[in-house]
Parts: sequence; structure tokens; C-alpha cells
Amino acid sequence: MSHLLSAVKRRLARALGGHDGRSQAPAVPQAPTAFPLGCARYFPQFRRGYDHEAEAVADIKVVEPYTMTKYDRCVVLHNLVRHVERKGIAGDLAECGVWRGGSAGIMALANLRYGATRRRIHLFDTWGDWPDPTQNDGNRFRDLQAGSLRKADNRGALDACRELLERLIAYPTHFLTYHRGLFQETVPPALENIRALAVLRVDCDWYEQVLFCLEHLYPKLSNGGALVLDDYGYCDGARAAIDEFLSRQRVRSFLHHVDYSCRYLIKGEGGS
Ligand SMILES: C[S@@+](CC[C@H](N)C(=O)[O-])C[C@H]1O[C@@H](n2cnc3c(N)ncnc32)[C@H](O)[C@@H]1O
Repeated sequence: MSHLLSAVKRRLARALGGHDGRSQAPAVPQAPTAFPLGCARYFPQFRRGYDHEAEAVADIKVVEPYTMTKYDRCVVLHNLVRHVERKGIAGDLAECGVWRGGSAGIMALANLRYGATRRRIHLFDTWGDWPDPTQNDGNRFRDLQAGSLRKADNRGALDACRELLERLIAYPTHFLTYHRGLFQETVPPALENIRALAVLRVDCDWYEQVLFCLEHLYPKLSNGGALVLDDYGYCDGARAAIDEFLSRQRVRSFLHHVDYSCRYLIKGEGGS
């Protein structure tokens, strides 16, 4: 009886990943950085029934250690790039707030998968220090130490971004433009080299940064192109900037819900 009990205990310990006294304990998987990566990871229970979800999942597996965004945002972004490829919407792809490049990687992979030709990808980030929130961002984020949101840790972010886009995804490097520096310094001179954008992803958290990117880059977005807004639900300042901008520009497109924070719109929907 005690023999049987010990065997059951050993099996239970093995099933729970513990040390059963006979085999080596399994190695604990190490996260690649201290930042909460892995949120975009695919788990079977996440399957939402999106169109083309299996293709998106295959690509999310590549970028997952390089993004802080979530599963649904990655699938929807993948589908939006598919949309512009299938409908022949003209323009480049751009992201304001790139960090380690995971979302840009989704755009690159979707272009490789669905596009007949490569699109230029504009990557805007300091990959270094970046501005703090201001009074327009509300109390929740004012004290960054005590607040519920931390600024991204940019150490090694540019190297990681290059590793993902150039080595792992092998997107042709001459189609990648790294605009390194504050948006306020890099976006205005970039405009003359951007004829049109098919997808614009804005992921820079604070009121002033979001408003600046929208004011300068939204006019470049083609009709039928997609504007993706990562922080609408989570960052009070980002939401204020987006509402202010869309109202001032009389944009009538519906803000589609991706998850608790992310929204997107298709330019020209609603006749705007
Ligand atoms: C939330 S992270 C981006 C996350 C990323 N899109 C992803 O998929 O994981 C925000 C990024 O915006 C950048 N950023 C914020 N304000 C900026 C500014 N004024 N100029 C340039 N980069 C800025 C930061 O450096 C940071 O890397």
C-alpha cells in the first residue's frame, strides 16, 4: 500500500513539474527581459474566432518576445495589414512608439504573407529617454513611481528591434526606416519622404505625443487605410488627444473596439 502511495506521489510531483526524487527538476523558463513580455502569446483558450486567426498566430509566435501589446491587438493588426494588401490601399506602414519592434514585426510579417510587394516601414522612437506625462495625462500617471503605469524600459530596445525585423523576420533592410529621436524632431522632416500611409499605428501613451503624431501623420493616411490607437482605453491623456483630434478634424469613422484599450478606424468610413 505504501509502495502504491509513493508511486502516486511521484507521478503527482512529475505532473506538477516538481522534483520526484529520481529525475532532475525541469528548468524554469526565463523571460527575455524584466518587462512584462509575453502578453501577446497565443494560448488555445484565447482563440476568439477571428478571421485568418491561424496565420496571425503563426506570426505572433515570432514577435511575442518583442512586444508589450496583447494577443487581440496583434491579431487585429495582422488582419488590418491583410485588408490594405487585399484592397490595394496605397502607402507605407508606420508606427510611432516602436520599442522592441513587436507590433512593427506583425506589420512586416503580414506584408510578407499577403502583399505582392514590400512596403516601406517607418519606425519612430527615441529608443532612449522620452518625455514624461504632463498635466493633460491626469493624476493616474503623474507620479510615475507611484502610478499604475511605468514608462517603457528602452535599454537594448533598438538592438532588439533590429534583431527582430532584420534577422528573424528578414524584412529587406532598405525598406526599413529608423527615425531615431523625439517625434517632435524626426516626424516633420520625414514627411516629405512619405507620400502616403496605408497603416498608422500610434502607441506612445501620453497626450502631447499622441496629439503630435496624429496632427502630423494622419493627413498622410490613405482613404481606406487604418489608424490604430493602442492607448485609447488605458491612458486618459491619449484618449483626450484622440477625441480632441478626431472632433477637430470632423472624422466620422467609427472607433472600432479591439480590447479594453486599443481602437482602430478606417479612414473615410462614415464619409469623413
Ligand atoms: C508603449 S511603448 C511602445 C510599445 C510597442 N509599440 C510594442 O509593440 O510593444 C512606447 C514607446 O514610445 C516611445 N516614445 C514616447 N514618446 C516619444 C517621443 N516623443 N518621441 C519618440 N519616441 C517616443 C518610447 O520610447 C517607447 O519606446
